[in-house]
Amino acid sequence: MNWVVEAARAFLRGVSRSRVSTVGAVLVTVLFPALLLGTLLDIWGMLNNPYFGFIIYLVMGPLFIVGLILVFVGLLFFQRRDASPVFSFEFFRKQLESPDRFERVRWVVVFVVFLTVLNVVIVSLFSYTGFHYTESVAFCGQFCHSVMHPEYTAYQNSPHSRVKCVECHIGEGAKWFAKSKISGARQFFAVAFNTFNRPIQTPVHGLRPARDTCEECHRPQFFFGEKLYVKHKYLPDEVNTEVQTVLLMKVGSGGGAGHRAHGIHWHVAEENRIVYKHSDWGRQDIFEVRMTDESGEEVVFKTDEAASEDAAAGKKGEGPWTRVMDCIDCHNRPTHIYRTAEDALNYELFTGEIPRDLPFIKRQALEVVADKYETSAEAKQQIAERLKSWYEQEYGDLIKTRPELLEKAIAGVQKAFSENVFPEMKIYWDTYPNFLGHPDYSGGCFRCHDDEHQSEDGRVISGDCDLCHVVLAEDEPNPEILGFMQATN
Ligand code: HEC
Ligand code: HEC
Ligand code: HEC
Ligand code: HEC
Ligand code: HEC
Repeated sequence: MNWVVEAARAFLRGVSRSRVSTVGAVLVTVLFPALLLGTLLDIWGMLNNPYFGFIIYLVMGPLFIVGLILVFVGLLFFQRRDASPVFSFEFFRKQLESPDRFERVRWVVVFVVFLTVLNVVIVSLFSYTGFHYTESVAFCGQFCHSVMHPEYTAYQNSPHSRVKCVECHIGEGAKWFAKSKISGARQFFAVAFNTFNRPIQTPVHGLRPARDTCEECHRPQFFFGEKLYVKHKYLPDEVNTEVQTVLLMKVGSGGGAGHRAHGIHWHVAEENRIVYKHSDWGRQDIFEVRMTDESGEEVVFKTDEAASEDAAAGKKGEGPWTRVMDCIDCHNRPTHIYRTAEDALNYELFTGEIPRDLPFIKRQALEVVADKYETSAEAKQQIAERLKSWYEQEYGDLIKTRPELLEKAIAGVQKAFSENVFPEMKIYWDTYPNFLGHPDYSGGCFRCHDDEHQSEDGRVISGDCDLCHVVLAEDEPNPEILGFMQATN
């Protein structure tokens, strides 16, 4: 036993002789219990705060490793006062020559090996949990709170709110893992030095091709046929009339498993390849589309703009850009779904967060949310004040007898606003357009399907209303086509 104490002493003496080692040893000793406790708490699921995770894994963890390195670097290389390293080669040779000392050295070695094993265990433990932490939704979505607040909020209100950020943004494989950590480090500095874009730029620089990620879970090869879509809306009249739009959507299939690619998911069939050129970074202005289909022949569709120098040089920046079409050329907002003001209010009216009994609430709400506010707090307050003063003036009696109607409406309108507009990040209703459809018959699918992209032999990318869907009813109260459904409700 004596030898062990001796060895520990010799080791500590060695450490204390080198200042570099001493600093390292202090770091390691102080951080060891904190790291162990933090890591264990995390494993037991008791650590839910993204800031603790950051301190444990991205501050204390690296410092601990630096401490370990300092201890050994100090012992092996740094000079003592008499100008020789503490544990030089010479030193070991001398020790090994005398049998008495040999025993001591053996114990020093055992002691060092024991410490090393202990350290390797803790380092692997916190690297493992730390890796999970940097892949967690809390780290991606909540740590840089004000920066990611909009994406995180929109994400939480989407069908993908249980899919981790990394499943779309990184996916499987070592190459993308490494890329993401490098780009993560760059983003970290952008946040630390406040040099990030407001709003954050889309398309995301170097986003992994969607087919590698989306197709881990979705297989458009196995979609087929049509699907009925019913959209509920409210008119800006006194009774907020409920109307419906009914579409039979030709969802189609990406082909495979014995059936042909057809309909909307025809674009992503294996045998089809669509490459397009756009003159703006946001890929709104598409001036050339090259299609190779199952026949293997390439057809090039161009707009008149394609001939102009403007398009060729790109409108601004270093464009034009070329892109292979994939899922996110249509589903660019699968999870960060920022609704339009119209859709956001319809949604709250539909779910009852905004009471439909309040006269003209659709019209009034639309008017107040459409304005630009400097901050979220100002918007919240203005929405409340402006609605209140209008209703007190126009529907004073109703508000007196049923004050809860207005209160609820105000909360619902504030919710619609705060889930979609983030003035601090310069995100307004129209900042991130959704390509899935064609608001006002432009943009979205109509970036290509506008009858104006023409091939040399006069073929166009069709804008025919029945190409993608059959409109069974448009903004109709109680559409006849849904009669059977309402009867059963
Ligand atoms: C279902 C897949 C999916 C998930 C899950 C997901 N994202 Fe995204 N994200 C995307 C796509 C697609 C884009 C837009 C890509 C484009 O158009 O370049 C995007 C864009 C972004 C952008 C750029 C700004 C914008 O809105 O266009 C940020 C920032 C972002 N995501 C962060 C996150 C964070 C943080 C999480 C987790 C809380 C997350 N994402 C989860 C698919 C996803
Ligand atoms: C880890 C699995 C996973 C990944 C990756 C994923 N999704 Fe999904 N997605 C789901 C699940 C689960 C649902 C169903 C949610 C529900 O029904 O509420 C869904 C739903 C959808 C829907 C239907 C939404 C609706 O309104 O009903 C679309 C469209 C979609 N995903 C597109 C995408 C795209 C595009 C990507 C790639 C950018 C992607 N998904 C990546 C799991 C995933
Ligand atoms: C040409 C545009 C386009 C492309 C490309 C595209 N989709 Fe779609 N997708 C649509 C439209 C339009 C719908 C139906 C309308 C809606 O969901 O609002 C749809 C529906 C879906 C749905 C819901 C299907 C259902 O039965 O409810 C999923 C999931 C989906 N797409 C996944 C994908 C994936 C994964 C890819 C890439 C491999 C992809 N899509 C490529 C336009 C596209
Ligand atoms: C980048 C350009 C581009 C965009 C954006 C685009 N498409 Fe297409 N689409 C094409 C091309 C090219 C064809 C083939 C035209 C042809 O065969 O003449 C096509 C064909 C189609 C077809 C017919 C497929 C078949 O059965 O042969 C449908 C349906 C369709 N697109 C739906 C959509 C929908 C819905 C959207 C928007 C969500 C959309 N497209 C967006 C380029 C595009
Ligand atoms: C290239 C495919 C395509 C073509 C061509 C097309 N649409 Fe659509 N349309 C869509 C998609 C996709 C949506 C669904 C958007 C969504 O899910 O919100 C849609 C939605 C609609 C809606 C419902 C919009 C709403 O939210 O109330 C109407 C109405 C409509 N289309 C009418 C037309 C008419 C009229 C034409 C012909 C001028 C046309 N569409 C041509 C793809 C197309």
